[in-house]
Amino acid sequence: MKRLGILLSGRGSNFEAIADAVARGEIAAEIAVVIASRPEARGLETARQRGFNAVSIPSKGLDREVYDRMLLEELHRQKVDLVLLAGFMRLLSASFIRHFPNRILNIHPSLLPAFPGLDAQHQALEHGVKITGCTVHFVDEQLDAGPIVVQAAVPVLDHDTVESLSARILQEEHRIYPEAIRTVLGGHYMIAGRRVIFN
Ligand code: GRF
Repeated sequence: MKRLGILLSGRGSNFEAIADAVARGEIAAEIAVVIASRPEARGLETARQRGFNAVSIPSKGLDREVYDRMLLEELHRQKVDLVLLAGFMRLLSASFIRHFPNRILNIHPSLLPAFPGLDAQHQALEHGVKITGCTVHFVDEQLDAGPIVVQAAVPVLDHDTVESLSARILQEEHRIYPEAIRTVLGGHYMIAGRRVIFN
């Protein structure tokens, strides 16, 4: 059974969607550890309530390399195979990423490469796009840039606010993140350049 490590910093709704998919037997893996970079993260509390091994490793004031070594230690201790970033608000160092080559997934609330970085939904509204969405991708050394596993499109409506648009995108996030994890764990794909090709 593959072991998942989930990294989060806040609300943790994607973590919950993943946990639900695991519980329904849709993802053949177990959640080995949930790590929060902020002790006050709601997702940490939820993970504990649901009985998961949930640990707080606060990042505040720590050097990236130092912090990432602490993360790595915990992930290796829990024998994690696949790392899932779920609202994890920190950049990971190149040396961290090298420990999990094509073994880290992230979800981002836009159709990458449009609107990387913070406040992607706000960026989409400001730009006036008619369609945005969400993306699950492998994490490489650039921000929001690795090979794309799954995307879903979401229309931008005339009356949308950041809140209403974010909520509609989030529903799709909760659908495609478990789907992407299932696909990656299934292993029937290859990465050719930037393309993830399924077979
Ligand atoms: C999501 O919109 C995700 O795409 C982004 O951060 C948000 C996390 O939400 N990376 P949650 O903590 O999973 O509820």
